[in-house]
Amino acid sequence: MSKVIFHGHTFKTKISAAEIDKAVSAVAEKLNSDLRGKTPLFVAVLNGSFMFTSDLLKKIKIDCEVSFIKVASYEGVSSTGKLTELIGLNESVNGRTVIIVEDIVDTGSTIENVWKQLSEMGATEIRVATLLFKPKAYTKALPVEYVAIEVPNDFLIGYGLDYDGLGRNLEDIYVLDDQI
Ligand code: IMP
Ligand code: MG
Repeated sequence: MSKVIFHGHTFKTKISAAEIDKAVSAVAEKLNSDLRGKTPLFVAVLNGSFMFTSDLLKKIKIDCEVSFIKVASYEGVSSTGKLTELIGLNESVNGRTVIIVEDIVDTGSTIENVWKQLSEMGATEIRVATLLFKPKAYTKALPVEYVAIEVPNDFLIGYGLDYDGLGRNLEDIYVLDDQI
């Protein structure tokens, strides 16, 4: 087992690059089969999903497009609380099959937000593909259809996921070994 230290916190290996590759292949196979005959648009949520999206898309064998977005949140002027905006989506999603690609689905707030906005933009079919899913943390009703690996409620880094900006470049996934 290997360890890394960021900002004084120790993380130990949890999921190896080989295990990740196997799990990504299984998700790609299911997508290839379920989406046959369609030309889906994969909408990857930055920053965390960049590595998963790259590896996943290499294994997608049907015609498809990919777009990378950011979710910006800001305080609204009304009492509605936090508003969010999708930045970077230049493709029209009207009438299309759209696959939201995430590094990790935790409470589900992010995918719910993105889903709602894609739906308002006219996407006719929306599905979610995520590398990691924390079922015990998930509070939403939307289906998370394509999950590479289910994980407990631990704090994870590596393979796109960060701790305070660090660790995204690691090829394995690591778990926090102490308390932050
Ligand atoms: P959600 O909106 O609660 O589902 O959270 C999703 C986002 O929170 C992810 O896209 C990550 O950026 C971040 N996140 C959730 N859990 C972790 C974790 O264990 N490590 C690093 N980032 C996480
Ligand atoms: Mg993310």
